[in-house]
Amino acid sequence: MGLVAVVDATEEYRGQMTALLGAQADMGIVLVSSAQEAFGVLASEKPFVLLLGPSITPEEAVQLAAVAGQGDAPADVIAVTRRASQDTIRTLFRAGVRDVLDQEVPSGDILSAIREAHERVERVRVTLASASECETSNKQPGRVVTVFSTKGGVGKSVTATNLGVALAARNGHRVALVDLDLQFGDVGIMLGLDPDRTIVDAVQAFDRLDQDMLKGCMTSHDSGLDVLLAPSQPEDAEIITTGRIDHVLGLLRSMYDIVVIDTAAALNETVLAALDRSNEVYAVTMMDVASIKNTRISMQKLAQLGYSADLVKLVLNRADSKVWLQLGEVERAVGARVFAKVPSDRVVPRSVNRGVPVVLDAPKSDVAKALASLAEGIARAAEEVKVDVT
Ligand SMILES: Nc1ncnc2c1ncn2[C@@H]1O[C@H](COP(=O)(O)OP(=O)(O)OP(=O)(O)O)[C@@H](O)[C@H]1O
Ligand SMILES: [Mg+2]
Repeated sequence: MGLVAVVDATEEYRGQMTALLGAQADMGIVLVSSAQEAFGVLASEKPFVLLLGPSITPEEAVQLAAVAGQGDAPADVIAVTRRASQDTIRTLFRAGVRDVLDQEVPSGDILSAIREAHERVERVRVTLASASECETSNKQPGRVVTVFSTKGGVGKSVTATNLGVALAARNGHRVALVDLDLQFGDVGIMLGLDPDRTIVDAVQAFDRLDQDMLKGCMTSHDSGLDVLLAPSQPEDAEIITTGRIDHVLGLLRSMYDIVVIDTAAALNETVLAALDRSNEVYAVTMMDVASIKNTRISMQKLAQLGYSADLVKLVLNRADSKVWLQLGEVERAVGARVFAKVPSDRVVPRSVNRGVPVVLDAPKSDVAKALASLAEGIARAAEEVKVDVT
């Protein structure tokens, strides 16, 4: 059995737990006297279980749980509390604390909680290890393309759904589309798909999640595209942590040749998880002043965060809209060249309402041709990578 870290400020509690756990021949213990120190121990010792004594505050427990669940060696947190209120208990569970026990419970209960958590963590670590193995060994990882904009309504989902469908309709590529707009994702509506299975199912089965199980969480579109839909209840988004998203994306990359990701109008942890996994980012903007200003700021933020300028490509949606700005002005204002232009067309809102992407609904329209040609570029890049490694 792996290591259990006992975290408490009082020597008395640490002593009690040493007596209890020390009697277990198969258990290793590390004693930690503060939450602060526990962060370091998590990183250096990689304990399987963090047992937080009653002197650790709920705030500290929440922070520790957030860190413990991350990375390639996650740990479970068990909090022992002194008559905590229902509200506190709920907060702790929401934050990812595995078990909350009252100080008064028999020591046998603490032991079995630790053993249960340990078993679970062991399974998770094995799954993580095998997932990263299949990422590196099984096949060349798929190409990840994220559609991004911190402004709402600029056409991210229209772009992502059409790219997904256009890529899937070509022969020879396995293509996945992920709706990472976790609260308000509308990819399912745009593709006319029922949200029977969503990313929530994948995240709930996280302990056991492998390629087969993840495939079972995807919804198939007639084009051949496999879609990982956003939660149907916005509040379900809360359980989807960045670490879990990253794991899901890693698995998808090992299963598909191309993974397209639609994102929310934000630059939050979820979007950063997608950007970190991306080979290409399409920053969608429109020709109005507000969108351009927004795009300039978010491009600057991405640069500050260390993303390379080559990663991000500017897609000008509704490029022919009747506004006063010229293309050159847009490029100067944003500080980047326009990589692709997608015209405005009434067939787009019609296709959105029908739940049939415009590349299928009106393939001869200019807007469908522009989106199909963007997809063509992605497919070519994916093929070049394949050729490079063979
Ligand atoms: N090229 C286009 N021509 C005409 N209408 C378009 C075009 N692109 C997008 N639209 C319209 O704009 C609406 C918003 O597009 P979309 O939902 O893709 O934006 P979004 O950036 O994903 O928004 P959100 O941030 O709210 O998710 C669509 O419903 C569609 O009707
Ligand atoms: Mg959208």
